[in-house]
Amino acid sequence: MAIFHKHISLLLLQLVLVALVFNKANGSGLKLGFYRKTCPRVEAIVNRATANYIYRAPSLAASLLRLHFHDCFVRGCDGSVLLNSTSNNIAEKDAPPNLSLRGFQVIDAVKAAVEAACPGVVSCTDILALVARDATQLIKGPYWPVPLGRRDGRISIATESRALPSPFANITTLRANFASKGLNVKDLVVLSGAHTIGVAHCSTIETRLYNFTGQGDTDPSLDPKYVPQLKSICFPTDKTTLLGMDPGSSKSFDQDYYKVVLKKRGLFQSDSALLSDKKTSLYVKLYSQSHGFTFFKDFQDSMVKMGKIGVLTGKAGEIRRTCAFVN
Ligand code: HEM
Ligand SMILES: *[C@@H]1O[C@H](CO)[C@@H](O)[C@H](O)[C@H]1NC(C)=O
Ligand SMILES: *[C@@H]1O[C@H](CO)[C@@H](O)[C@H](O)[C@H]1NC(C)=O
Ligand SMILES: *[C@@H]1O[C@H](CO)[C@@H](O)[C@H](O)[C@H]1NC(C)=O
Ligand SMILES: *[C@@H]1O[C@H](CO)[C@@H](O)[C@H](O)[C@H]1NC(C)=O
Repeated sequence: MAIFHKHISLLLLQLVLVALVFNKANGSGLKLGFYRKTCPRVEAIVNRATANYIYRAPSLAASLLRLHFHDCFVRGCDGSVLLNSTSNNIAEKDAPPNLSLRGFQVIDAVKAAVEAACPGVVSCTDILALVARDATQLIKGPYWPVPLGRRDGRISIATESRALPSPFANITTLRANFASKGLNVKDLVVLSGAHTIGVAHCSTIETRLYNFTGQGDTDPSLDPKYVPQLKSICFPTDKTTLLGMDPGSSKSFDQDYYKVVLKKRGLFQSDSALLSDKKTSLYVKLYSQSHGFTFFKDFQDSMVKMGKIGVLTGKAGEIRRTCAFVN
């Protein structure tokens, strides 16, 4: 009987441990209204400060949404993307394949506004999650609830940016990458829809256009009628010109991205790759045909999921005073 009991308690202990680990991984430590007592106006302050920037420069919305994605895919949503390099460490934001991230000044300004009201309470990574949401809504995109309570990490390592998906990746690699973050095939297609807004550098498609297999050829998964148009914008060694990922509507958040991908005009190999798998191509068709409502609804759900990747909660990490530096 005693032995039986011991087994039961061991089993219980195991269950509790599994539950704890699972909790951390799926972000159950987060909750809506986390700062209700400690910083009740945080969401209003963030919204107003973000709006100040977006009204003047709407294109920042894309950059801010992307910053949140980069934060979450490297080391979990812990503000690591916001840290500056130091004399003995190269941080994520200075990763050698330049991440071309923008919008850090917005996060710094929003953080300053929040600190003025409630010093030392709200983490930089929570602020980034809120700013990404508000910036998206301010350009008439979807709106999603943001459970809060993430804490800031103290580590940011340039080489860990390898965790980010590559624009040259095929569907197998993309699926595996997202799965490693707890995101499924549907999340992959839905979140790729963020490319309905924003711009990319010509350098990202140079190989696709001019030297796909090293024979001076073009990627056959690109619409041949579209290639001359792209070539007229992006010359072979051009590293600086920017082009919209959803041409003609790269400033509005809509489901046009999926129509573009379906026409074999997705800008990156990773966008085109969504057509090379049964499941993902079905989702591309679904979102391209249905009213934008379906895409918005699913985008909201996937963003909430993404915002929970590997978060630090409770006593882990810290609440940074300045987002570019650990305390
Ligand atoms: C599926 C894998 C993904 C790949 C391979 C990828 C890759 C890229 C690349 C290469 C750029 C252009 C960078 C440049 O040349 O300046 C870009 C831009 C962008 N990405 Fe992604 N991305 C992916 C998923 C996501 C997700 C999940 C989001 C957000 C939820 C996102 C949001 C954006 C936005 C908004 C831009 C435009 C940024 C701007 O205009 O400043 N991407 N992405
Ligand atoms: C942190 O780095 C950013 C760019 O990477 C730079 O603009 C900013 O001035 C730096 N912040 C400080 C306080 O040095
Ligand atoms: C990296 O990005 C910064 C800011 O956008 C730019 O000034 C710098 O030239 C870039 N570096 C490289 C190596 O592309
Ligand atoms: C996808 O890319 C990976 C990594 O580059 C490669 O190992 C794999 O063979 C590719 N898969 C297919 C089906 O092309
Ligand atoms: C195309 O790629 C091949 C193989 O990588 C390389 O030898 C050649 O110089 C490239 N051509 C151009 C125009 O860059």
